[in-house]
Amino acid sequence: MTARVLVAGATGVIGRALVPLLRAHGHHVTALVREPSRAAGLDPDDLVVADALDAPAVRAAVASARPEVVVHQLSALRGSTAQGLEHTARLRTEGTAHLIAAAEAAGARRIVAQSIAFATAPHGGPVLTEDAPLHLDAPDPGWALTTRAIAELERRVLGAAALSGVVLRYGTLYGPGTLYHRGGAIGAAVARGRLPLPEPAAGVTSFLHVEDAARAALHAVEADEVRGVFNVADDDPAEAAVWLPEYARLLGAPPPRVVPAQLAERMLGWLTSHQLTAMRGAANDRIRRELDWKPATPSWRTRLAAD
Ligand SMILES: NC(=O)c1ccc[n+]([C@@H]2O[C@H](COP(=O)([O-])OP(=O)(O)OC[C@H]3O[C@@H](n4cnc5c(N)ncnc54)[C@H](OP(=O)(O)O)[C@@H]3O)[C@@H](O)[C@H]2O)c1
Repeated sequence: MTARVLVAGATGVIGRALVPLLRAHGHHVTALVREPSRAAGLDPDDLVVADALDAPAVRAAVASARPEVVVHQLSALRGSTAQGLEHTARLRTEGTAHLIAAAEAAGARRIVAQSIAFATAPHGGPVLTEDAPLHLDAPDPGWALTTRAIAELERRVLGAAALSGVVLRYGTLYGPGTLYHRGGAIGAAVARGRLPLPEPAAGVTSFLHVEDAARAALHAVEADEVRGVFNVADDDPAEAAVWLPEYARLLGAPPPRVVPAQLAERMLGWLTSHQLTAMRGAANDRIRRELDWKPATPSWRTRLAAD
């Protein structure tokens, strides 16, 4: 069944893949954007304008779109600055609250929201399910802010009184526009031999191609009766000791320099060091079973350096 779908964050990495995909499946898509000039080339059925942190503007924009389903793909991590982290945390807390209130007032029946699969506490595993606890007591203030905002987003989405809610916990995104694109911050660092490999490098990353992320959102939009939290990740969770040297090889770069794990945090910052040394992967069994989704790109090995 086709639906009227509002996509908040339509101009983002996932939104740009999702808008045409939803339209190709017959859905009527309204893009919610904060700056119309950012929507060049997007081609939704309709466009509404609001800053997600401005509750009255969101309410008016969503009311005029009359969506049945709201998709929340808002974040502000481009550039990975501290300001971006704080803005993103506010989008996940206040922005989510505004979207839910506006969706309910407009008579929508469903919300699908973006979360992250790598915010779990680094215990057990090495690959964890959706039932694993979030890393709410992370020692890094930025990561603690992020995990707490994620927890609040998920609580709000799943607790919305008049909406059925789906949370999609995306793995580490790669593909056009991401950090792992050749020209992205991590792609460029690896290509120049500037991302060292801690020893031991036992952190596990579950990658996800942007196109698979968009396909998961399509499945969630269409699976009306399903609600809950779903990891969205490929089938090939990999230790940094495996993926980082392979990524360098695929990029035609020299093998990463090996550094002692004790130096990693000082050299790379807490989050990258955590990713490479301690992070856990994400199992995708639940989304395969309940949303009939599987990755079209089952392993990062084929495309991480490809486009
Ligand atoms: N989930 C992950 O895996 C993850 C984690 C960390 C980093 N990253 C990296 O982060 C980058 C993505 O950057 P991003 O977070 O900026 O996402 P993005 O892909 O650019 O999408 C964010 C969307 O939210 C919109 N938005 C932001 N603030 C808004 C506001 N106040 N009101 C309305 N809309 C708002 C943006 O609009 P505008 O187009 O107007 O900005 C954009 O449409 C990629 O490089 C990715 O690799 C991803």
